[in-house]
Amino acid sequence: MNSFSRLAVFVSLASLFPLNAYAADSKGTVEVVHWWTSGGEKAAVDVLKAQVEKDGFTWKDGAVAGGGGATAMTVLKSRAVAGNPPGMAQIKGPDIQEWASTGLLDTDVLKSVAQSEKWDGLLDKKISDTVKYEGDYVAVPVNIHRVNWLWINPDVFKKAGIENPPATLEEFYAAGDKLKAAGFIPLAHGGQPWQDSTVFEAVVLSVMGVDGYKKALVELDNDTLTGPQMVKALTELKKVATYMDPDGKGQDWNLEAAKVINGKAGMQIMGDWAKSEWTAAKKVAGKDYQCVAFPGTDKAFTYNIDSLAVFKQKDPGTAAGQQDIAKVALGEDFQKVFSINKGSIPVRNDMLNDMGKYGFDACAQTAAKDFLADANSGGLQPSMAHNMATTLAVQGAFFDVVTNFINDPNADPADTAKKLGAAVKSAK
Ligand code: GAL
Repeated sequence: MNSFSRLAVFVSLASLFPLNAYAADSKGTVEVVHWWTSGGEKAAVDVLKAQVEKDGFTWKDGAVAGGGGATAMTVLKSRAVAGNPPGMAQIKGPDIQEWASTGLLDTDVLKSVAQSEKWDGLLDKKISDTVKYEGDYVAVPVNIHRVNWLWINPDVFKKAGIENPPATLEEFYAAGDKLKAAGFIPLAHGGQPWQDSTVFEAVVLSVMGVDGYKKALVELDNDTLTGPQMVKALTELKKVATYMDPDGKGQDWNLEAAKVINGKAGMQIMGDWAKSEWTAAKKVAGKDYQCVAFPGTDKAFTYNIDSLAVFKQKDPGTAAGQQDIAKVALGEDFQKVFSINKGSIPVRNDMLNDMGKYGFDACAQTAAKDFLADANSGGLQPSMAHNMATTLAVQGAFFDVVTNFINDPNADPADTAKKLGAAVKSAK
């Protein structure tokens, strides 16, 4: 059964359970399910909550801890089965289409806001297509994250005698060796499947280039998934893994980020939500920390667009609240303050083209410049590890094979490439 029918069967069970609408107080209550629970990310989401409450609505926080959102998605599915979906939920990429096809997302509620706020003109078509179902907006995009970053503590680099940020995999290994020799953790990394695959996709991009990345992780081409370039990428991944934090098994990404921030580790491969932790710790980009594209990927941008999907609700107050959240979320003020706290860049084209005006730091300015350039060059590619390239079922197949590969001391890259092809095929 493909992932589409799996979700549909799951959700059709919903009819067996009574609908349980939330009582509206104030102008209306909207429960929002998301997984922004790290210190920095919580500060970002609090900006939205505060604005919505100022507008007279009640924000019911449905935060579900767990980076990458796997736990939040499980909770969301059981809520849907119980006939009790939240008003809004963080859903991304192709999954938005799957949820919409179950009939649970509201195709009407965002119509008037999208029109009056001119969303079609504000958003790149690639982005608006992701959040529309059969031509209607069913989610509001809130920001753009770049995933292929390397975060560096320059002070630690200096102590280890490393002069420049690594620009190639060879330089990355050389830096890792020096960090190890100087007694630092070379690479802060939490060994959770989504974090393993965040590193995997960065290495695939570095070794196989944009075309190889696209064929393997977006188009799921079997020959590319099992071919010699993938074997090479897996071989490099195994080497990158030798620099990972030995205490990182099962560790949350923000706890690993803290090790770089407080000078225990030298580097972290992570999307730019990692910057939210640096910002929360009052550290300054370009001075206290450096952000560079993962070695060998500076002409590419793996994107991850956070968006809040709207579920059908009976209560008119909730619908009004959903519209308010959507309106606030794409407004200029929120786009600025949220992304500054979250580490992302705005999703609005006008703002991406004028980042200096809004006081964004060096990392965000680079991200916006690269986003626009890579959109033209073809270097802009959806992140597999962050639900933008495939369905969750296919993503799960990648996660299993990649995490087993990293953890198995005897794993063979050639065998693993074959397994990857087979696992992806059966999950499609
Ligand atoms: C991503 C999400 C980001 C961030 C990250 C870590 O999937 O898009 O906003 O929360 O997970 O949890």
